[in-house]
Amino acid sequence: MSVAVVIGAQFGDEAKGKISDYLAANYRYVVRTGGGPNAGHSVHLPEGNVVLHQLACGVLRKGVTGISGPGMVVNPFGLEAELQDLRERNLLKGDVVLSDRAHLLLPLHEIEDGWEEALRSSLARDSALGTTRRGIGPAYADRYGRWGIRLADLVRPNDLASRLEMLYARKAHLPGLPERADLQRSLTELGGRLAPLIRPTEPILWGAIDRDEPILLEGAQSALLDVDFGTYPYVTSSHPTSAGALVGSGIPPAELDQVIGVSKAYATRVGAGPFPTEVEGEIGDYLRREGAERGATTGRPRRCGWLDLLLLRYATRLNGFTSLAITKVDVLGGLEEVPVCTQYLTPSGETLTLFPPSSADDLARVTPVYERFPVWPAFTERLKERIRREGVHALPPALKRFLGFISEQTRVPVEWVSYGPRRDETLWLGRGAPTHLGPELSEWSG
Ligand code: IMP
Repeated sequence: MSVAVVIGAQFGDEAKGKISDYLAANYRYVVRTGGGPNAGHSVHLPEGNVVLHQLACGVLRKGVTGISGPGMVVNPFGLEAELQDLRERNLLKGDVVLSDRAHLLLPLHEIEDGWEEALRSSLARDSALGTTRRGIGPAYADRYGRWGIRLADLVRPNDLASRLEMLYARKAHLPGLPERADLQRSLTELGGRLAPLIRPTEPILWGAIDRDEPILLEGAQSALLDVDFGTYPYVTSSHPTSAGALVGSGIPPAELDQVIGVSKAYATRVGAGPFPTEVEGEIGDYLRREGAERGATTGRPRRCGWLDLLLLRYATRLNGFTSLAITKVDVLGGLEEVPVCTQYLTPSGETLTLFPPSSADDLARVTPVYERFPVWPAFTERLKERIRREGVHALPPALKRFLGFISEQTRVPVEWVSYGPRRDETLWLGRGAPTHLGPELSEWSG
């Protein structure tokens, strides 16, 4: 049937978790393909709110298998706590499988993350990256340096012991490491408890492809945090792009049918790094307050700003989006106007429309050029109810124009719009909903 991937089109926190959870109802497998406990995918269920850090959202649905895939770096203690919490709340409805190739993220990595951030700060002012301090960078560095320990090693005590010994030798410069024997003991015990979940996941997914069972790849982090194509060095250490999701799952490129980009109707960023459309002051505070813009993992207030279509076009080319989901449109209802950045001016007077500067310093120096849109009315419960009943016809015309403009500018159909945190506050606009090339746009955006 189909393999689809959900990719964050901005700097993270686009409500990918919500869209993945909404789509998961139509899939048999949902796979997290990269990252680790730096992610926080929020899902608002009738039974309560859940933030998934390392489990795929498929675990919340009966009949779906949630796979924590090979591309991840997994904090096994955090993962067990997450499973336990879902079990206690009776929310663990699907099956859970953990890839034996995923790497372990250990307390050593968290210590190293903090140590590296402090080192950066001591070497140059404002040079800290503002990582989540969950150990992501050091865990990926060990993975690629071939010092890593994988989930498979958790259930092989001898291998675990020797690899841990090597890793401790490698990290001897770090202060405050836990006693190796203690860590080894608790990892071995944990390995015993997690063993039934740890398996090779590639054959499971290849079998699903052979049987025509649909697979959803749930990307974590986002395109503009990609270690190569994001705003380096203010990026994460994985590849949160569609290509990265394939590497992180072991699915061959030709099997991928659908690439769904998720973007907010505005923009946010946590951590350091260039953010051309950032707005501070009253409007920034408004977006932060109305959008509840605090990191789901670290609780840090998010930086807020306007939708940046140049970056969205770039993310579209990079990932090959076949459709877009635009989220949090309700947050803007009630403002006077919505500015949308369509191009940049560089300090030398050049106009950029498609491709941002590769250097983070140069990106920090551009001036965004905006088009302004009239805003739709506030999303009252009444309006939400009408949208649930009548669908696209009940969307305010100003919002339709806004969505039509995004389609036109990216040449990608906007197929979903999300207007609130709850599962049922997502509207499907239809397959291949209009792009500027389609004859429907004038009617649809009217
Ligand atoms: P790290 O992934 O913890 O190394 O952090 C590197 C950068 O990516 C920092 O700016 C983080 O704030 C950002 N980041 C990492 N994960 C997420 C996420 O899930 N949402 C938003 N930003 C993230």
